[in-house]
Amino acid sequence: MPARDPERQGERLQKVLARAGLGSRRHCEELIAAGRVTVDGEVAELGRRVDPETARIAVDGVVVGVRPGLVHYLVNKPAGVVTTAHDPQGRPTVLDLVPAEPRVFPVGRLDLDTEGLIICTNDGDLAHRLTHPSHGVDKEYLAQVRGRPSRAALRRLRDGVELDDGPTAPARVTELEPGLLRIVIHEGRNRQVRRMCEAVGHPVLRLVRTRIGPLTDRRLRPGHWRPLTTDEVRALERAAAGPGRR
Ligand code: URA
Repeated sequence: MPARDPERQGERLQKVLARAGLGSRRHCEELIAAGRVTVDGEVAELGRRVDPETARIAVDGVVVGVRPGLVHYLVNKPAGVVTTAHDPQGRPTVLDLVPAEPRVFPVGRLDLDTEGLIICTNDGDLAHRLTHPSHGVDKEYLAQVRGRPSRAALRRLRDGVELDDGPTAPARVTELEPGLLRIVIHEGRNRQVRRMCEAVGHPVLRLVRTRIGPLTDRRLRPGHWRPLTTDEVRALERAAAGPGRR
């Protein structure tokens, strides 16, 4: 029996791109014809077929989430919920808040008492890139702290604070009202915001994550989730691709 020609297997590239939200099939054909689409690092030609389960497809260098079966949820975690998949102490986990199938996992962590946005997905590739320190996706927090930090304390938070695992990178810190800070960091160290505030003498009383890279949602109620839109997944892909590609 003759071997099957791999070029004739799989789905047409423009169909896969269109399903991922890049526009009509016609438009996606134009993207391919313009040499803007790569498959596994090589510029694709019109007529190309791919296996969407395995192909790494990028448009203008930005990887497109095209694999069927991938889900991405934005969850608003309430306080008292853990972000590990299983809790030996039997406390509720963030995975109790989302559909059981397909199985997903939380991207990064929030402390038990921290509230706010967390992504749950089965997209290991994106999760890996979002949590990789070199990609530095911004995370924004609202921190209610004890007392009112002085200008010098705010400057220390901005410039970097010495913690027991090393100094923190510069942060964007705005005092929204006395004792209420908006803090934007791109590192993901354990209990980082709490430890930073503690180090300058203003322990955190309440901490809420309000943004992950390009993702915000002020209407998502605590304990609720929603799927990310295709545009949001693509925006996350861009953010995770690093500063040069934003
Ligand atoms: N910083 C913290 O201190 N806690 C979190 O949950 C997230 C960031």
